[in-house]
Amino acid sequence: MIRITVEDRNGAVSDHEIKGEGPLMFALRDEAGGYVEGICGGCATCGSCHVFIAEEWRDRLPEIGDYEAAMLDMLESYDAAASRLSCQIEAGPELDGLKLKIAPEE
Ligand code: FES
Repeated sequence: MIRITVEDRNGAVSDHEIKGEGPLMFALRDEAGGYVEGICGGCATCGSCHVFIAEEWRDRLPEIGDYEAAMLDMLESYDAAASRLSCQIEAGPELDGLKLKIAPEE
């Protein structure tokens, strides 16, 4: 298990324990209380799993791939410094302590 801290769309902050395996989107959707929809199932084609990564964590995540970058670029709330698609981030043990904010629904 790993711990993550999530700020929801209303500004409420909660700590969650998640399994720490597979795409982070599934944990945000299924384990941590339905924060994101994950409409495309993790194919980086819907943007419904968009999150803003806390500043201190941005350099610790894997590089943004071409498909992820293309999808992010289409989102109104895109923030070049903080935006990621949670379906493109593996929720391994190295993410223990991750802090993020759920992006606005689009
Ligand atoms: S679940 Fe669709 S882009 Fe991440």
